[in-house]
Amino acid sequence: MEYSFNGLNVTSFESRRSQEIEKLIRYHKGNPRVAPSMRELPEAESPDISSFSKQLFDGNIDLLILMTGVGTRFLSNLVIDEFGRGRYLEALRNTNILARGPKPVAALRELNIKADITVPEPNTWRDILKTIEDENLDIEGKNVFVQEYGVSNKKFTDSLKSLGANVKTITIYKWALPEDINPLRDAIKSISKGKEDCLLFTSSQQVVNLLKIAAEDGLESSLRNGAKNALIASIGPTTTETLNDKGFSVDYEPNSPKMGNLVREMARSASSLLNKKRTALNNGVSTDNWKRVDMIWTKSVADRKEVTYNSEFMKACRLEKTDYTPIWIMRQAGRFLREYRELRSKVSFLDLCKNPSLSAEVTLMAVDRLGVDAAIIFSDILLILESLGIGLEFSKGDGPQIKKPVRNSSDIDSLKEFETESLEFVYDALKITRKALDPKIPLLGFAGAPFTVASYAIEGGGSKNYINTKKMMYKDPELWKTVMEILTDSTSKYLNAQIKAGADAIQIFDSWAGCLSPDDYSKYVLPYMKKLVNNIEHDLPIIIFGTGTNSLLELFSTTGANVVGLDWRVDIVDGWEKVGFDKAIQGNLDPATLFSTPKYVADEAKKIIDKVGNRPGHIFNLGHGVLPNTPVDNVLRLVDEVHEYSNKVR
Ligand code: CP3
Repeated sequence: MEYSFNGLNVTSFESRRSQEIEKLIRYHKGNPRVAPSMRELPEAESPDISSFSKQLFDGNIDLLILMTGVGTRFLSNLVIDEFGRGRYLEALRNTNILARGPKPVAALRELNIKADITVPEPNTWRDILKTIEDENLDIEGKNVFVQEYGVSNKKFTDSLKSLGANVKTITIYKWALPEDINPLRDAIKSISKGKEDCLLFTSSQQVVNLLKIAAEDGLESSLRNGAKNALIASIGPTTTETLNDKGFSVDYEPNSPKMGNLVREMARSASSLLNKKRTALNNGVSTDNWKRVDMIWTKSVADRKEVTYNSEFMKACRLEKTDYTPIWIMRQAGRFLREYRELRSKVSFLDLCKNPSLSAEVTLMAVDRLGVDAAIIFSDILLILESLGIGLEFSKGDGPQIKKPVRNSSDIDSLKEFETESLEFVYDALKITRKALDPKIPLLGFAGAPFTVASYAIEGGGSKNYINTKKMMYKDPELWKTVMEILTDSTSKYLNAQIKAGADAIQIFDSWAGCLSPDDYSKYVLPYMKKLVNNIEHDLPIIIFGTGTNSLLELFSTTGANVVGLDWRVDIVDGWEKVGFDKAIQGNLDPATLFSTPKYVADEAKKIIDKVGNRPGHIFNLGHGVLPNTPVDNVLRLVDEVHEYSNKVR
């Protein structure tokens, strides 16, 4: 798997590791330009060194925060030069050390010292604060020493102070311009002329220095203009924040803030992102400070619909031949993406779902990041419960919680009449997304199936044995019927409204139907599923999905849906046979596979594609949603392998 820039002009502003990044760009077939834009200059005088050393030796530092590798090395050398290695190392061993990330850890390792706490990716100052909170570090009244670099980060030290810490800083080095600024000047000229395709920023200071030199040369506005025509990639959140503050949008940030990932992932996505950005410019979209939702692909709705209709995903749903196997991933816009977690740290899950523009942004984010063949609107199957007057909470770690479960007839009598408009925010999100989404990519709407939603409403949350649900089903079939009818009718209206708002296909999640015997499914669930599918007023693909459904697949197939989702417990061909070869299937890689290695993932994907062979009508997916903590690199590999391998064997 070799990602290629295909000869695009790629500019990097990296200084210390300039040769390394140049090699990486060349390896990925980019045309590199490296314009070092800064230099680390040791503080001329080190006024803090003796007071820092004294406090360290006296055991007065309760927490030493090391921000950078370079800084850790400078600091160590200064102290060792003055007081000797033995004394310094002993004091370090007796001090609680927090390392911001792998670089200070590596610098400590050279001294045979281990950090007590290491901050997880993306290692920003906000992550340090979060680690302090997560690890329950009590810093109130404690002496905290921060090794700083470049400019002092007041927001960070103020936050430490607000936790009650007694904060001292030691600035080890400052930023300066490189000795030779001609490469930077040349880069500015080239960007200004619109000749650069890809700009890679690996630190915040690069942005500052680039603008400073451009301003000095009277080229700031032409630089900004030229940058509209190029992709802007940032190594991580702090650099992104600086770029945004300076009026640039970031087109790509890797999931892991590493140089190798930045270059490799840009090589993977540059052509399609550049096409998107330049199409936007042609369609009059201002791209210098834009969001994903601002994209306009085409002004003609009819053209858009035709392209979507002929996409690989839609063809596979109709059992038509495709050039490659289309793939999307259930829960593709979830917590396994760092960008998602970052957004979620600022807004609650329900507020996110109810903000159409944010929910559209998240939907589009997954497509940009993963390169999948379908988008699924960001929402949740349980939102419909709120419309019925059932209070809902998503608490951290515990999953969804229903405040007052629906257990008896008076609970049901007190339900609200479903009003389609109560979920307007979902329709708005679909409208916004469909406008900004590449026409080649169909947009899926979705809902929970009546049984699965009922099980949450009755149990009050997730369940293992579904005792309350089954009790109602068996002991009070009339009450069960009422619940299922309410859910079937409201879900039909909900789905029809989603389709009107722009959904190109629909998935119905009956995630927990697998807990039922075939007889119970036939008697208590199937009639409602048939009614639900039949109530959909439009001709478009309907996917139904559940887990643990091996013994229900023949019945799923009679619902009227065009596509049946398979989980990983069933062999894909056996499952398809049960569904019937006159229907399309979706699945079915075990989500846990993604915790292995890229090679293992690729091999497992190939096995599934080989089993399917030449039969049209397979949409690749996982057997259930992608799990939190899944390594993103493995997901990228899965998507690419499915595309490339299926294209090769067909
Ligand atoms: O697939 C997508 O990317 C679209 C979004 C989507 C979500 N939920 C977002 C979500 C979809 C299609 C769903 C469907 C859903 N929701 C199902 C059926 C699919 C399945 O996985 O079986 C079910 C059973 C639910 C109910 C639900 N919502 C549960 C059990 C949980 C908690 C467990 C978990 O994964 O956190 C949720 C919350 C939820 N729904 C999250 C997301 C991204 C996590 C919320 C967070 O950010 O903390």
